[in-house]
Amino acid sequence: MQLANPNLLKTQNYINGEWRDGASTLEVRDPANGDLLAQVADGSAADTEAAVAAASAAFPAWKSKTAGERAAVLKRWYQLIMDNVDDLARILTLEQGKPLAEAKGEIAYGASFIEWFAEECRRAYGQTIPTHNPAMRLSTIRQPVGVVTCITPWNFPNAMITRKAAPALAAGCTVVIKPAVETPLSALALCQLAEEAGLPAGTINMVVGSDAPAIGKVLTEDDRVAKFTFTGSTAVGKLLMAQCASGVKKMSMELGGNAPFIVFDDADLDTAVASCIATKMRNAGQTCVSTNRIYVHEAVHDAFVAKLRTAIEALQVGHGCDDSVSVGPLIHRRAADRVQGLVQDAVEAGASVELGGEYLPHGENYFAPTLITGVNDGMRIAQEEIFGPLAPVQKFTDEDDVIRRANATPYGLAAYVMSENIRRANRVVEALEYGMVACNTGVFSTAVAPFGGCKESGIGREGGVEGMAEFYETKYCCFGA
Ligand code: SIN
Repeated sequence: MQLANPNLLKTQNYINGEWRDGASTLEVRDPANGDLLAQVADGSAADTEAAVAAASAAFPAWKSKTAGERAAVLKRWYQLIMDNVDDLARILTLEQGKPLAEAKGEIAYGASFIEWFAEECRRAYGQTIPTHNPAMRLSTIRQPVGVVTCITPWNFPNAMITRKAAPALAAGCTVVIKPAVETPLSALALCQLAEEAGLPAGTINMVVGSDAPAIGKVLTEDDRVAKFTFTGSTAVGKLLMAQCASGVKKMSMELGGNAPFIVFDDADLDTAVASCIATKMRNAGQTCVSTNRIYVHEAVHDAFVAKLRTAIEALQVGHGCDDSVSVGPLIHRRAADRVQGLVQDAVEAGASVELGGEYLPHGENYFAPTLITGVNDGMRIAQEEIFGPLAPVQKFTDEDDVIRRANATPYGLAAYVMSENIRRANRVVEALEYGMVACNTGVFSTAVAPFGGCKESGIGREGGVEGMAEFYETKYCCFGA
């Protein structure tokens, strides 16, 4: 791999400030063409225990630093990431598949969490509480929870790490991260830059490993772990939550979604189409907040579909390193097969493929950006998280009915509303049972606002003041006279 800074290509685990081999290695391949990119240490449960021990040993010194001292190190980390954005984006595109421009966007997005939480940790204020008893003085202080363990996904191999690690480190916690085996190179490069920034040995540790059950058990059950945080599927999240229960660990869970995208008859259709493409085709549809169910008012259905079709036709599919490409491959063949299965199920149940609906000849992980109409809520495509470049459109006629249909899912992560009517927009945004609702835009993620879901989409928030609060214990202090 050609990089301006070859130091960023790390292939060992990072434990207690040392780069360590595993007992064996695992292969990292380019999802666009199957090329072998690197052999990376395959860490074990024992490596994970060593990482937790290092994080536990480093915690007292790190939490004792002032917020300003921690912020200074984190700001250096932020700056080093931004200085190396081109190389980091190249690594990300090669191992994950997203187009280079999106990868650069992810690096800047990921770095913004470090910058923002470095600033925010200076404001970890407690309270002085008006007392209930004149002979007592009451206050609260905020203290870091302790060792934080994280399991992060392959779809955002940079930003989902910084979104967890930055607030944890800023609060004074130490961290152990298990990145996805598909995309460890982006993760390990972050550790290299953390080391260069001066994060002390043991404050950040990373174990790449294929034995997810054994590593996950240590991360969720080790007595030295105070908090566990996960981004991934609801099914795996439920298993990990059960494991956390045995030690009553604190946890944050950012799980699956089934985002409705509602286009009212008073929507600006160009805004609606641009927003739909942004949320649906970002990362080839492989995001938790991707639009999953597109509900269009019958009066504008045909006009919207025609415009969406034109916009999808304009997308260029190919290798993410090619500047003209806007949609890359899916992460692996299983993902493409799943998408194909959803299309087949919908067609068998009466839906029509307007565009795409097939594998592409570019490579085995490519699936065509696809537009499907005539979808209904009973189809798998409307009930399961798609995680692919499939835009399934349904009709609706009535506001109350579409709200009911949009809410009729166990998921509650993100929802989208397209309307130029301010009263309706407010009404619908408030009625949707989701952790995040975007109105007249398809892009809303930012370090400064709380990201997360309700119902089976998760627990807790990442980003914003809420994301910081996840890593503090609030201690009530009562002083007798
Ligand atoms: C995700 O898909 O989990 C994250 C998407 C985002 O941060 O916008």
